[in-house]
Amino acid sequence: MHLTNNDLDMLNGKYGKAVQFAMKLIIIIGEIYQTDDLINVSSAHILGHYGSLYDAGVEFYEKLANLNAKCRIPTTVDPSSLPENWKDFNIPDNYAKKQLRLYKAIKKIGVIQTWSCTPYEFVNIPRYGEYIAWAESSAVAYANSVLGARTNRTPAGLDMAAAITGRMPRIGFYLDKNRKGQVLVKIKKKKLTDFDYHSIGYIIGKRVGTKVPVIEGVPTNCASYQLKCLGSAAASSGAVSLFHVIDVTPEAIKEDPFKEKSPEEVIEITPDDIENTIQKISTTQNEEADIIAIGCPHLSLEELRKVAKILKGKKICSDTRFWIYLSRAVYTIAQQMDLITDIKNSGAQILLDTCPVISPLKYCRFRSMMTNSAKIANVVPTEHNMEVIYRDLETCVKGAIK
Ligand code: F3S
Repeated sequence: MHLTNNDLDMLNGKYGKAVQFAMKLIIIIGEIYQTDDLINVSSAHILGHYGSLYDAGVEFYEKLANLNAKCRIPTTVDPSSLPENWKDFNIPDNYAKKQLRLYKAIKKIGVIQTWSCTPYEFVNIPRYGEYIAWAESSAVAYANSVLGARTNRTPAGLDMAAAITGRMPRIGFYLDKNRKGQVLVKIKKKKLTDFDYHSIGYIIGKRVGTKVPVIEGVPTNCASYQLKCLGSAAASSGAVSLFHVIDVTPEAIKEDPFKEKSPEEVIEITPDDIENTIQKISTTQNEEADIIAIGCPHLSLEELRKVAKILKGKKICSDTRFWIYLSRAVYTIAQQMDLITDIKNSGAQILLDTCPVISPLKYCRFRSMMTNSAKIANVVPTEHNMEVIYRDLETCVKGAIK
């Protein structure tokens, strides 16, 4: 593998033990994938939740922090496993302490304290063609597909190594050849609702797995948040890290996403497929849930406005919990717009900096959850041993105020 003088300096310890350690890790991965060289990456997005990093992750980050590691490139962090008022959620002290240790180490390393899976909304916005090293499947799908930046689904550990060196092996989606479309997906429904984007994403992930789908039939005026929902569902039900939408996403506007080759496969998604999927995703016929959760991925301002509009002047049913997961950035703007007042007056609860999937909901002992997120619906039954009711946003909000 070709290493620059600067790579060798990092490897030989010129910039300290943390950088040396990170560079060793990057080179090991590069050797496994037989890469020729390393590339510069200009931003990182790392995992920071105890719910998936566990004790090994805490020790790893603390080790780097103690070695005086510092981010070399702008680096943001995914949601944490703890809501602010974690004691109200019956989360044991022992669990919470691990996340608090992660907060401390991550802060010391100089990570931008976003604690959100939508860093591209405000503070970490890569441009077209930029090499980045992001973790978290929905953020990766968005950055690759909607923004046209280049990242792999960077594993935990390697994401932080990229943050403190600014280097990554030239592998996977950094390479042109791996970005070309493989499966043509024809959407056969005319008017797509917000909810359809979640469901279509779920179907695509199930059908294509790790391949790169090229989607035809999505209107050119679709909203970014709709593509965010599609990507997050496809990344969860399958392992889609890059999708192209004809005439919509940058690599499918500039050129033929199949690079003049025929698709390996063509699939169609009909209105019936979407309807059947909605029915199939729910694990119960029951229409009432202990908890209603929206905001996976974290809601955009546009989505939050829709929620606030339905909730204005209404009250959440006293025996239902309605949780809205948000980034702090969207929360701050929404506060300025008085949206938060309407939401809080209804009795809905806003959860900042955290996520329904990687927080330990088992301690709350809920039996069922209603959600509009295909990603939550895909994960919660196995991860949290709960029944799930998959419904559109309006049904979720109206279910909470019924
Ligand atoms: Fe974000 Fe958590 Fe969903 S990280 S995409 S809210 S699973």
